Amino acid sequence: MASRRRFLKIMGSTAIIAAAGAGGFALTRTPTDAVAPWKRAGGPEYAEPRMRALSYAVLAPNPHNRQPWQVDLSEPDVATLYCDLDRLLPETDPFERQIVIGLGCFLELARMAAAEDGRALTVEPFPDGAPDQNLDTRPIARMKFGAPGSATPDPLFAQVLVRRSLKEPYDTTQKVSESSLSTIAAVVPESVKVEFTIDPTRREELRELSWAAHKIEVTTHRTNMESVDLMRIGKSEINANPDGIDIGGSAFLDAAALVGIISRQELADPTSSGFQIGLDMYQEMMFTAMAHLWLSTDGNRRVDQLNAGAAWIRTNMKATELSIGIHPLSQALQEYEEMEPLYKEVHTKLAAPGHRIQMLGRLGYGPTIPGGPRWPIETRVL
Ligand SMILES: Cc1cc2nc3c(=O)[nH]c(=O)nc-3n(C[C@H](O)[C@H](O)[C@H](O)COP(=O)(O)O)c2cc1C
Repeated sequence: MASRRRFLKIMGSTAIIAAAGAGGFALTRTPTDAVAPWKRAGGPEYAEPRMRALSYAVLAPNPHNRQPWQVDLSEPDVATLYCDLDRLLPETDPFERQIVIGLGCFLELARMAAAEDGRALTVEPFPDGAPDQNLDTRPIARMKFGAPGSATPDPLFAQVLVRRSLKEPYDTTQKVSESSLSTIAAVVPESVKVEFTIDPTRREELRELSWAAHKIEVTTHRTNMESVDLMRIGKSEINANPDGIDIGGSAFLDAAALVGIISRQELADPTSSGFQIGLDMYQEMMFTAMAHLWLSTDGNRRVDQLNAGAAWIRTNMKATELSIGIHPLSQALQEYEEMEPLYKEVHTKLAAPGHRIQMLGRLGYGPTIPGGPRWPIETRVL
């Protein structure tokens, strides 16, 4: 959710301020139902060990907040993870690479949550074989819950409720130190390669590259529309569909929606002021990156993607522990025709030949923001 401060600065429109201050306009616009899973995770209603762990796993980062996870609990002590094939991103993620990374984040959070209860989670990836070009109805993973006392807690789990993808401008007066980045990198398992830079020249190159990639995504009609169609604008849309790209949560954003400055129609039209506001916001974010970090694998097997997801959530949680914000910038990594030149450029710059960059993020110090919308776990059980 974008902050009130930023929107005041960018929009500053009298129409919005008038609408926001109008009688009857709720003082708080927090989409309470949509964010309830952050409060309910691990609570007394989830006494069953699998549900308890999975109530945390739904808080995992995932592309466009599609939350493509579904679980089958019919086998005792086992949760089998499936991908909901109605929750894919065919334009920007044509091979579901990012969707699988998100499922990898989910599995790692489930593992940490089970360990917090003293239960070891044995994860068998793709028990019926891994899909190739595109996902199918076969399971993503089988999770077997061990007996109490079979695991010890993971200290990173302390960050589960405060972890965010921090999509805000960062403080350019506060540097991210090399030692902080090394501390973050140390939580990445060996199956995934982690690298980072704070070098000003490289940082500038990556700022430019991620900005150029963002512009390609939003000015390519079909990829932009994939996002626009997933936008939930204002409190009631967010509560009705707690997934996708939420725009709201403050009187100012909801008021902007009310007066029509933010609407799906505006955001679909590159000549509109709403579209320009979105561009300005992203430009500010890209150019306040204080460091970049990326994860790569020596191939692009489905299991590499799951491993990259586990690595990403761990990276995100360690950064949170150090009060450092992190924001995935996936555009240049996406596999579609218009992005090809930047895809090649980013791989030439950052990865060894044949290696695949699975995640790229910017880091810096930023504001504290609330948790994003989620469907509760009980709605994801098959
Ligand atoms: C594989 C993957 C790719 C992502 N790519 C982007 C991205 O390009 N831009 C962005 O703003 N967020 C990106 N995100 C972050 C998601 O939008 C975010 O996780 C989701 O909205 C839920 O928010 P939260 O992480 O703050 O809970 C990505 C997350 C994952 C797991």
